[in-house]
Amino acid sequence: MIDTAGDGGKKPGEVFLSARGLTREFGTGKSKTVAVNKVDFAVRRGEIISIVGESGSGKTTLAKMVLGLLNPSAGEIIFEGKIRDISTQGKRRLYWQNIQAIFQDPFSTYNIFNKVDEVLMDCIRLQSGRLRGGGNLSREEKFEKMKNACKFVNLKFEELSNKYPFELSGGQMQRLMIARIFMLKPKLLIADEPTSMIDACSRATILDMLLKLRDEVDMTIVFITHDIGLAYYISDTVYIMEHGLIVEQGTADQAILHPKSDYTKRLLGDVPKIYEPWDLNSA
Ligand SMILES: Nc1ncnc2c1ncn2[C@@H]1O[C@H](COP(=O)(O)OP(=O)(O)O)[C@@H](O)[C@H]1O
Ligand SMILES: [Mg+2]
Repeated sequence: MIDTAGDGGKKPGEVFLSARGLTREFGTGKSKTVAVNKVDFAVRRGEIISIVGESGSGKTTLAKMVLGLLNPSAGEIIFEGKIRDISTQGKRRLYWQNIQAIFQDPFSTYNIFNKVDEVLMDCIRLQSGRLRGGGNLSREEKFEKMKNACKFVNLKFEELSNKYPFELSGGQMQRLMIARIFMLKPKLLIADEPTSMIDACSRATILDMLLKLRDEVDMTIVFITHDIGLAYYISDTVYIMEHGLIVEQGTADQAILHPKSDYTKRLLGDVPKIYEPWDLNSA
């Protein structure tokens, strides 16, 4: 774990979100897959946890259950001290005010016919829908908010505002998605393989922006990756997942520098440089 806060490591707060026995099966009989198998995990406020596993290990299924996009077959999610209840549309909307996601392919997340300023303006609308009276921002105030969000991710609003998503690079588009998150300020961010479709150079930048969201906006982040090196770079706590099961968990140092499970050791075998000074550009 990297101490980016420079304050000797902020102590994460109380448990914010946790899961008990979280399970999801697909299919029945011979074709049954247990994609997520009795998973327990906990995230403290202001913490970054990583879920690491190879393709097919159940990471996205887990993320979708946390997001409330997929019902668990068994188990429960505890959010802010209470068992999460999203049984009605109203309750689900309330839950969704606290949580946002970024996915592997930033281009698939957004309406491709929306220009950059529309993407950001949507966030202002979403927010002002929530805050009573907050919808009365002047045109200048709205532009100021959008410029500020672009500045947070090192994009120049003036150069991009009139562009369509397909005119941006993958790295720029993912940064725009992070600018959105910066504006919406959810309490919890689920980032499902956010760097796996972009070039190595932008990858480090995206990770640093996630760290900045945690350090400057106090966001709690669940980072999902197949790349144990990225998990080591960004996380406080790491969970290693194999065939739906958590096979290893601990602080980034415990789980990655002193792994107990053979599966973790095998994942580490794919990253020979882990014990050497970290060079993200080659990750
Ligand atoms: N909608 C679905 N229907 C059937 N099987 C699914 C579905 N979604 C995921 N699976 C299966 O669940 C397992 C875990 O998939 P997934 O959560 O996407 O893994 P990961 O994100 O780690 O690559 C895989 O075997 C996958 O084929
Ligand atoms: Mg996935």
